[in-house]
Amino acid sequence: MTFALSHAAPGQDLTLDDRLVIQDLLSPSDDCRGDDGADVIAGLTRQPKALPPKYFYDHLGSHLFEQITTLPEYYLTRTETAILQAHSGDIADRVGPCDLMEVGSGSSTKTRYLLTALAQAGYPLSYQPVDVSGAMLKTTADQLLVEYPRLRIQGLVATYEAALAYPRPASGYPRLIAFIGSTLGNLDPEQCHALLDRITSAMEPGDYFLLGVDLVKDIDVLERAYNDSQGVTAAFNLNMLQHLNWRFGGNFDLGRFRHRAEFNPWASQIEIYLDSLESQRVHLEQLDLGVTFSRGEPLLSEISRKFDLASLTASLTAVGLPVQQVFMDDQDWFALLLCRRVAAP
Ligand code: AVJ
Repeated sequence: MTFALSHAAPGQDLTLDDRLVIQDLLSPSDDCRGDDGADVIAGLTRQPKALPPKYFYDHLGSHLFEQITTLPEYYLTRTETAILQAHSGDIADRVGPCDLMEVGSGSSTKTRYLLTALAQAGYPLSYQPVDVSGAMLKTTADQLLVEYPRLRIQGLVATYEAALAYPRPASGYPRLIAFIGSTLGNLDPEQCHALLDRITSAMEPGDYFLLGVDLVKDIDVLERAYNDSQGVTAAFNLNMLQHLNWRFGGNFDLGRFRHRAEFNPWASQIEIYLDSLESQRVHLEQLDLGVTFSRGEPLLSEISRKFDLASLTASLTAVGLPVQQVFMDDQDWFALLLCRRVAAP
């Protein structure tokens, strides 16, 4: 009765089909649901100004990001997909039967290669997608149930932290936690360490962690990926201001800001800015916040770190996740690292 799911009223999923359970762990007070904008106030009143990248992802922003993943200059998604396509079988062989959890599952497009490999190996298919967008999670889960008739899904509408603190499935199989798409690159080294720590805590010795990261490479290649010729990345960046306008009653004039993306070699990261084209004042009514920008003043909207395999491997070992196997593309542009939890370091 898989097809009936998409027409089910909320709360009826359980009785309609025991292959799908969706748990909503986002409390109304949570950042992503009943957002009070405290992080916007903090970001716009600090110097230099900065905003959290999660504000890219309103409806239009998510759509623009999907478009970015298909741009000729944006090699990341294409490259990681090719690696997964080539090596999902190897990963399934090495890991064996497992419970797959994916942190930040989105449309689960790349994950299908893993699911297919696990299915072809004849393993039971158990998938815990985690996403803050409940709508995206439900739509994707409904499709997956049709595509994989033996798949059981326990979706978690949750922040990464809440999902990682949630009890693991009781199957007795090892867990495989996937964090792909180079989403880790949005976190600065301190936030990154904190998240890896939480991931380790959610694992028992013998569990696996699959991490997808973008690597340091030629600066022109990096900068082109974030300054595409069709201007989609610029639109994606500027849309953050539009998102703040509707969400918090702001009056950002998108014509008075300009997209800029540059590689910072010292921090080894692409930095994405919205530069104020003139001296101006912006007001966000629902936050009771007035902000002044000087001419040329930058607002940092995102960092996208580019990793070095040797130092990333060392960090993973230090948190108790030694790397078992590294899969890369022909140009060594992107890496998938399969790590295995050992006893606490
Ligand atoms: C989704 C964080 C991996 O950093 O490449 C793409 C986001 N920003 N173009 C990235 C993004 C501008 C993307 N991540």
